[in-house]
Amino acid sequence: MSEVFTGSFTQQEPIPEEGIEAALAVLRHGRLHRYNTVEGETAEVALLEKEFADYVGAKYCLAVASGGYAIATALRAVGVAPGDVVLSNAFTLAPVPGAIASVGIKPAFVGVTEALTIDLDDLERKIDMADVLVISHMRGHVCDMDRLMRICDEAEVTVIEDCAHTMGADWGGTPSGRHGAIACYSAQTYKHMNSGEGGFIVTDDPDLAARAIMLSGSYMLYGRHLAAPEPEVFERIRYTTPNVSGRMDNLRAAILRPQLRILDDQVTRWNDLYVEVQNELRNTPGLTVIDRPEEEYFVGSSFQFLLLDWETDKIEEVLRRCGARGVDLKWFGAEEPVAFTSRYDSWRYARPERMPDTDRILKGILDLRLPLTFTVEDCQLIARIIRSEVSAVYQGA
Ligand SMILES: Cc1ncc(COP(=O)(O)O)c(C=O)c1O
Repeated sequence: MSEVFTGSFTQQEPIPEEGIEAALAVLRHGRLHRYNTVEGETAEVALLEKEFADYVGAKYCLAVASGGYAIATALRAVGVAPGDVVLSNAFTLAPVPGAIASVGIKPAFVGVTEALTIDLDDLERKIDMADVLVISHMRGHVCDMDRLMRICDEAEVTVIEDCAHTMGADWGGTPSGRHGAIACYSAQTYKHMNSGEGGFIVTDDPDLAARAIMLSGSYMLYGRHLAAPEPEVFERIRYTTPNVSGRMDNLRAAILRPQLRILDDQVTRWNDLYVEVQNELRNTPGLTVIDRPEEEYFVGSSFQFLLLDWETDKIEEVLRRCGARGVDLKWFGAEEPVAFTSRYDSWRYARPERMPDTDRILKGILDLRLPLTFTVEDCQLIARIIRSEVSAVYQGA
């Protein structure tokens, strides 16, 4: 009898008890809006922003309604205007090009390498036409950030980092999100902290921070922030920065604060699961595991492997066979977007450039979530199932 996995790839852990207690306290006093405080009270959102800023070592932090909103706000804050060229990764998820499109720009894409990071040679070719790069550290794969920053700095291109999948990660000891001018994170359920929906923006630039805070809907209440620039900075921008409301509320912040305190431990747990899958899948004929560079400290909350240059029907057979044994694989090569997974050519509001090298790699990318509700044994079983089905299809069984 073949082994079958019966767990759920979408089941996250419960909110820590401390977060539940803090959320109940907010519900009991009823002051959910971040600026609804009583005398002497500091809002949960303001406290969370200060704690998150300290966690990544940033001067300023703003908590917002979602990761996608954070990216759109960062684009507005850096002053993207109609006619500007905004580059981003071809290998990412729909909220990234969506955020770019939301500020009236047609996204332009940079290819992906077999390491699943942005193709820096392709970036070099395209950088002269660009004003801004939204680098998406997709599925936690971080490119050579030193080279990326050199390319962008030389061309005076502003870097916005999408760290939706790298909260808790670093490159060469620098926390993810601390290389570019401004960085965005997500606290949506499937990310590294879970408030259902939510996001963060961090930066060391006082003007960017002040603009982002005004944009998020601070009215003239920015003085209630703890991780914000001085009031003089707001004086410069307060009449010219529109309100595009997208604040975080105190209930979400209350849930997130205890999760931030355990984030580093959670990262270790994710990486323990990741290593199990990687070890089991290594040396599977026809399957390529992604070797991670030494400089990268990643968060293994999902796992990717390549079936490079496989025919479509063989990949579909692997998906079918693994699915029948309870292993839910996502595929970045499908012609049509499915559930959360889509490809750059599905985003028809973007610039229509085909990238054959990237198409070849996307076609081979298989992806699975590793929620912390999985045990090491679950991961071993999942990897055994993938290994046996990939081997069987590869060998034509
Ligand atoms: C790579 C990437 N960037 C940004 C986002 C946006 O995050 P949110 O869902 O919080 O808007 C997501 C969400 O899935 C994502 O996967």
